[in-house]
Amino acid sequence: MPSEVRVPIASLADIVAARQRGRELAAQMGFSSFNLTLIATAIAEVGRNIVDFAERGEMTISMIKNGTRQGVQIVATDQGPGIADISTAMRDGYSSANGLGIGLPGARRIMDEFEITSEVGKGTTVTMKKWEA
Ligand SMILES: Nc1ncnc2c1ncn2[C@@H]1O[C@H](COP(=O)(O)OP(=O)(O)OP(=O)(O)O)[C@@H](O)[C@H]1O
Ligand SMILES: [Mg+2]
Repeated sequence: MPSEVRVPIASLADIVAARQRGRELAAQMGFSSFNLTLIATAIAEVGRNIVDFAERGEMTISMIKNGTRQGVQIVATDQGPGIADISTAMRDGYSSANGLGIGLPGARRIMDEFEITSEVGKGTTVTMKKWEA
């Protein structure tokens, strides 16, 4: 398996594919099955946000290194409507739709690093990392 995969996201099937790719890449790096589930969950949540709010976008899942530490990085990007107030969007229970509003804050909690940038009318990028051991 290559050390980086790009998955276009426009449907539920694409989210399933991205989750699977992420799981495979992280499994190859030796992540525990518990962590594989967390990584797959975070991928599914940001993927679902792309489909729900931006219609389409893409995810790049890569193996990263920091000295001797290995990790997995997920970059989810779209050119949808963007988010006007990121701190509100990151709050537990906030949803502009009919969601539970736990996708973004949940993903932040289960990954080691989480960054979101967004510009109204331009789009949104979420970058998440999980380090091994
Ligand atoms: N890619 C995106 N583009 C535009 N807005 C987004 C995007 N991702 C999230 N948002 C905004 O941030 C809010 C919070 O996202 P979050 O995933 O936490 O909750 P939700 O998707 O509404 O509900 P849940 O994920 O719990 O089903 C969304 O309701 C939406 O307004
Ligand atoms: Mg969501």
